[in-house]
Amino acid sequence: MDLLRLLTTLSLLHPTTAVTFANPLRPCDGSDPHIVHFDGFYYLMTTTWTNLRPTRAKTSKISKPARQRCCNVRAPELYKIDNTWYIYCTAGNRQNLDGQRSHVVRGGSHPWNNYYGYAGQLTPQWVIDRTVLIIAGKNYFIYSCLPQPHWKSFCITEMTSFTPISGWKVLSEPSLPWERVGSPVNDGATALYNGTKIWVGYSRSYCWTDSYQLGLLAYKGVGDPAEGSNWVKGRQPVFSSSEGNWGTGHNAFFTSPDGTETWNVYHATTNRTGNCDGNRYTAAKKVEWRADGTPDLGRA
Ligand SMILES: *[C@@H]1O[C@H](CO)[C@@H](O)[C@H](O)[C@H]1NC(C)=O
Ligand SMILES: *[C@@H]1O[C@H](CO)[C@@H](O)[C@H](O)[C@H]1NC(C)=O
Repeated sequence: MDLLRLLTTLSLLHPTTAVTFANPLRPCDGSDPHIVHFDGFYYLMTTTWTNLRPTRAKTSKISKPARQRCCNVRAPELYKIDNTWYIYCTAGNRQNLDGQRSHVVRGGSHPWNNYYGYAGQLTPQWVIDRTVLIIAGKNYFIYSCLPQPHWKSFCITEMTSFTPISGWKVLSEPSLPWERVGSPVNDGATALYNGTKIWVGYSRSYCWTDSYQLGLLAYKGVGDPAEGSNWVKGRQPVFSSSEGNWGTGHNAFFTSPDGTETWNVYHATTNRTGNCDGNRYTAAKKVEWRADGTPDLGRA
C-alpha cells in the first residue's frame, strides 16, 4: 500500500494548462486506487499487496502486523472523520484470501505528517473493499460481503464510530449475467455525489476477466439508505474495458479542488488475460454529465 502525494499544480488543478497529469498516474502496482484532496495536495493510495509503504514520515503498524493481517493488504482508502485521518484497508493471512478482513489505522490531523497506528478490525466476518458513504450527515460503511459462499455482494451498515461494525444489510447481489463472468462479484464500492443526487459505483465480475467493469446504484433521495428498496440498480454497465485497457474497475470518485469537476480514478491492465495483480495501472478520467443529470463515465 502506498501513500503518494501529487502536486496539484502538476495534476488535476489546472487540467487545461500545458502542464497536466498524464495517464497512467501509476504505471504498475496501481490497483485499487483511491484519491482525496487536502490542503493543496492529492493523496493517491493504491495496493502494493504487502504493506503500508512510506507515508513520508512514519509507517503504519499494519506493516509489522499480527499473522491474521500480515498479508494481501489491499484497497487502501484515506478518510478524514471528525478531524482525524484514517486509512481503511483489507488484509488477511499469507495462505489464501479467506481471511480477508477490513482494518483501520488512525493518524492525526494531517494525512501526511502523522504517525498511523493500528486501530482495529471492522468486522469478525469476511469483508473487503469498504468505503465511507455520507448521506444527510450520517456515515455508512459500504463494502463487499459474502451473504453466501462465492457470492460477493455489496453490503451497507450505519457507522456509529470509526470501528468496529456489527449488523449489515445486502444492498446489491450479482444478479445480472455481466456481474458473474468468472465468478459472481460485486466489489470496490465507492460513493458519487452531485448536489442532492447520490450514487454508488462498484465493480462487477471477476477482476482478472475483461468483464470486470463498473455499474451504478442510485439512491432514491428519500428513505433509509441502509434499505435496499431505497436504491435503484442500473441494469447496464457504465464503464467497461476498451482495446488495450482491460478489466477497468475498482474505481473511486473525487472532485477538483474548486469543486466544479468530478473525476473517476480506476485501474486497468494492458494484458487481456492478466491476473488481478500489480501489473494494473492507475488512470483517471473526467466524468461528464448527461442532460438528465446522470453521470457519463465514457470509455477507458
Ligand atoms: C498476461 O497474464 C497472464 C495471466 O497472469 C500471464 O500468464 C501472461 O504471461 C501475461 N502476458 C503478458 C504479455 O504479460
Ligand atoms: C453535477 O451535475 C451537473 C449536471 O447535472 C454538472 O453540470 C456539474 O458539472 C456536476 N458537478 C460536478 C462537481 O461534477
